Amino acid sequence: MAKPRIILDCDPGHDDAVAILLAACECDVLAITTVSGNAPLEMTTANALLMCQLAGLDTPVHAGADRPLLVPAAHAPRAHGATGRDGPRWPDVHLAAASNDAVGCIIETVRAHDDVWLVPVGPLTNIALAVRQAPDIVGRVAGISLMGGSVGPGNVTPTAEFNVWADPHASQIVFAAGVPLVRMAGLNLTHQLRVVPSEAASLRKQGGIVPEFVAGLFDFYLAGYRERAGLDAAPMHDPCAVLAVTHPELFTFGARHVDVETSGVLTRGMTVADERPGTDATPNCEVAYGIDAVAALELIIDAVRSYA
Ligand code: BDR
Ligand code: CA
Repeated sequence: MAKPRIILDCDPGHDDAVAILLAACECDVLAITTVSGNAPLEMTTANALLMCQLAGLDTPVHAGADRPLLVPAAHAPRAHGATGRDGPRWPDVHLAAASNDAVGCIIETVRAHDDVWLVPVGPLTNIALAVRQAPDIVGRVAGISLMGGSVGPGNVTPTAEFNVWADPHASQIVFAAGVPLVRMAGLNLTHQLRVVPSEAASLRKQGGIVPEFVAGLFDFYLAGYRERAGLDAAPMHDPCAVLAVTHPELFTFGARHVDVETSGVLTRGMTVADERPGTDATPNCEVAYGIDAVAALELIIDAVRSYA
């Protein structure tokens, strides 16, 4: 069966880096687009290019929005370090971005193919700008599979997840755009899929530039969760959005109406899913509630191993 065509919109990011490797194995990645998020745009773009370089990918990388639509830019150094990829040593990046027009790339690519999944795993700024500039793409995409939000606790605030919180207005635009198929892998789902230290050890033992680099990413990322949350395991958030396209059978979804709080004093960036029994709200989203975490993790680790 043909691999699904996707555009991966990301802000690498430790888990974004793993999502790039997974997507390149399981999908036909037409483009990688980058956005300000875990780190400033310059760094997230360099990090995406680095992953392409290490893995030998010729996927074009297009830089996108360097700030959210309305709120000031915020990054996630506690989770990802100041570079967005703290941990392993890395070589100089020799690849260059194909353009600084991620939004144009998204619009043109969707118009050219008609069966493209958008897979945003960072703040939704690029996707919202594309939808606003070219509303026709709403009906042309195969779907949007995003990592963001939560039906449950947040991470950056008690109620909000980082990607949605970082650009709540963009998120609100995307959820309300009328895209026929939106899949949401929020924190309630992604915390079910966790890597543990033994995975880093076994990748390091296997050897090879990419597995060893990912082992270094896992070490840093795991140390952060250990320190902040007392966990000896770390969620692989962003690969979930890729797997929701390639392996939907591993998930359980519930059709819900989801809206985004843009201005709440305590709840900015909250994804408000209507879970009332018998609600008459029309669903706009397939919310992921469950995942076969063992099978999903195996796909992720196998993908990383395949670059040895
Ligand atoms: C999301 O925020 C980032 O830190 C991760 O890359 C992921 O996309 C999780 O809240
Ligand atoms: Ca991310």
